[in-house]
Amino acid sequence: MLTEKEIKTIIETGRNFMKMPKEDPDYLTDQQLKKNQPPLVKAAQSNELISLPSNFDNIPLDNDFMHIINSRQSHRVYTQKPLSKLELSYLLWCTQGVKEIRGKSYATLRTVPCGGARHEFETYFIVQYVEGLDPGLYHYLPMTHQIEFIKEIDDAKSFISTSVGGQSWAAKASVVFYYSAVFYRAEWRYGIYAHRVALMDIGHVMQNLYLAATAAKLGTCALGYIDPDYLNAQFNLDSDEECMICCCPVGTIDEKDKQAEADFYAFVKEQNL
Ligand SMILES: Cc1cc2nc3c(=O)[nH]c(=O)nc-3n(C[C@H](O)[C@H](O)[C@H](O)COP(=O)(O)O)c2cc1C
Repeated sequence: MLTEKEIKTIIETGRNFMKMPKEDPDYLTDQQLKKNQPPLVKAAQSNELISLPSNFDNIPLDNDFMHIINSRQSHRVYTQKPLSKLELSYLLWCTQGVKEIRGKSYATLRTVPCGGARHEFETYFIVQYVEGLDPGLYHYLPMTHQIEFIKEIDDAKSFISTSVGGQSWAAKASVVFYYSAVFYRAEWRYGIYAHRVALMDIGHVMQNLYLAATAAKLGTCALGYIDPDYLNAQFNLDSDEECMICCCPVGTIDEKDKQAEADFYAFVKEQNL
């Protein structure tokens, strides 16, 4: 049980984190100190690379932008049908796809904006139902628009549920995207200012996923409540360098589940909120 003093300290730390750190005219970031730039992306860990299709014109998308904006919502009820490999590829492209390299290898320009184009995130995911892909854990390689298989998982539903602190509805997703932050990729450029910016940036990734899923008539929900220790261990991350920060389950949806979706917020009526 946290003491009142501990709670106060945590709240204070959080508030200070949200404020811009104090300006120090003598402070130089590693980029300003001309230190070597870290790699733009994490290299593949295995030789088992899978190239993804990118003929996205073959996905029947809703192309009415205002309709997508107005119909976006969080979906927590999934019908457990498989996604096609093309749909998975499209979601990865819309969230982290590399469109261009700025300079020789200064920065990647992607489908999402990012402070200083640092793109400090890595995308991992668990596949449950994707046509043509074995279930298990994967890592996205944005430079080549490929994925790599990391490992099999004995009980994927239990993995997903544990990874999101027991929000067991997420275990019906066809795929769950897990996003990590590689701290130094942003710190090299922004130093003490990097961390606020990183949290703003991950919002773009998740919003693009919401909009891409909506256009493809799929459902997703941003999840900030995760178990980072469990996930870092499962994905073999050294959390001092790279840490899981959030995740998004994606699944197939059906109109008939409208009530089941609404039931997640039944407490609002029950408690007369
Ligand atoms: C950063 C972030 C974290 C969230 N974390 C959770 C979560 O852990 N569990 C959950 O059920 N919903 C989560 N949500 C979804 C919100 O509850 C949802 O966006 C909000 O209730 C508004 O509903 P709407 O997205 O349907 O408009 C999160 C959303 C965001 C943007």
